[in-house]
Amino acid sequence: MAVKNTPNRVSIIFGTRPEAIKLCPLVLAMLDHRNLVPHVCVTGQHFEMLYQVLDDFGVVSDADLDLMQPNQTLAGLTSRAIAAIDEYLQASRPDMVIVQGDTTTVFCTALCAFYHNIPVGHVEAGLRTFNKRSPFPEEINRVLSTRVADLHFAPTETARQNLIREKTPTETIFVTGNTVIDALLFAVDRIRANPPQIDGLPDFLQPGSDNAQSDLSPMVLITGHRRENFGDGFENICRAIAQLAERFPETHFVYPVHLNPNVREPVNRLLGTGSRENGGKQNIHLLEPLNYLPFVAMMDRSTIVLTDSGGVQEEAPSLGKPVLVMRDTTERPEAVDMGTVKLVGTDTQTIVDNATVLLTDKQAYATMANAVNPYGDGKACGRILAAIEHSMT
Ligand code: UD1
Ligand code: UDP
Repeated sequence: MAVKNTPNRVSIIFGTRPEAIKLCPLVLAMLDHRNLVPHVCVTGQHFEMLYQVLDDFGVVSDADLDLMQPNQTLAGLTSRAIAAIDEYLQASRPDMVIVQGDTTTVFCTALCAFYHNIPVGHVEAGLRTFNKRSPFPEEINRVLSTRVADLHFAPTETARQNLIREKTPTETIFVTGNTVIDALLFAVDRIRANPPQIDGLPDFLQPGSDNAQSDLSPMVLITGHRRENFGDGFENICRAIAQLAERFPETHFVYPVHLNPNVREPVNRLLGTGSRENGGKQNIHLLEPLNYLPFVAMMDRSTIVLTDSGGVQEEAPSLGKPVLVMRDTTERPEAVDMGTVKLVGTDTQTIVDNATVLLTDKQAYATMANAVNPYGDGKACGRILAAIEHSMT
């Protein structure tokens, strides 16, 4: 790329909650950079859950493609995204495009930028399960995004090795750590100084609540949204939560429910007040999706985490929380290898058994509750900016 006297315009394009969480710190860092000017384009693949994150980080979008439709299909979203991103790139002509992760927004953006001959930097490159249907469709999104990207920001050495195995040129790969840790440190500073209040939760479950009281009230934090878990998977997960809530009446089960209707329907049907499984239990708390800072505060307050999320698998270990991952595969083996994360799948009995061990066996809990941080040191954004700048000189 030619040396220029004017600053380089970098379009940072994202569409969903996790991309926003992992790219807002990069936007904030780029705003302070002398040679790089960020242009924030949100595709609006998510709506409420995306704007929650922008608010928390104080990031303002420069363009909004407003893509989300209720219960959108993969092909429908993909075709609308390609058309809208194409038009955006045609009009804005950035010097580089940055994407993060493995969503439909990422794959469509990378492909469109390639069609416009604009270099693509891929943040969180190289994660793989090597199973194209799990997670679905994310594994294919990230494999295809790697093929068209020019700079690959691998969060870990494992991710770099995955890229090298696929013959990605080594000089284009940078091990940076994951920007999720930059985001987490931003959040932890704020929530420990000023614990947020969470609507719909009793005082003793609020973040920052009195420790002695908290010890009396163990709390299991739950999230879930993976497409491969729709149907039987979610029904099994809900039944596991109901059984655990019955078995452990002093333990509270806090579940901020993702806005995808394929998630909300089984969760409300099987765990909502009035459902047979809920049976009037006072220790199941279904909440709306939380803003990022309150969610981090709840992870910090939790005893254990049950999730199928990617980002939560990276954050909770940093906070020393054991994580049971309700999936059969993970592209994040590092914390599993370090013993803080365990894959338990979506079989009801297996989830119940593993959670029971953690809630009853202090030694087993202590073994998993080590604070480990294989995903970064909070300085990923600086390394990514240095690599982008270097590529432009
Ligand atoms: C998407 C990503 C997934 C990512 C997840 C993070 C794809 C194919 N999926 O899954 O990789 O892990 O986001 O959460 O890219 N909805 C709202 N408001 C919102 C967000 C979603 O109402 O703010 C509802 C809408 O009905 C929407 C549906 O959820 O149509 C599905 O959204 P979509 O982005 O297609 O899928 P997710 O399951 O959110
Ligand atoms: N998160 C949040 N509010 C919530 C649940 C999760 O802010 O109610 C955050 C969480 O801290 C993590 C990210 O959202 O950083 C994970 O998003 P999600 O699970 O939707 O997507 P994934 O990481 O699986 O792609």
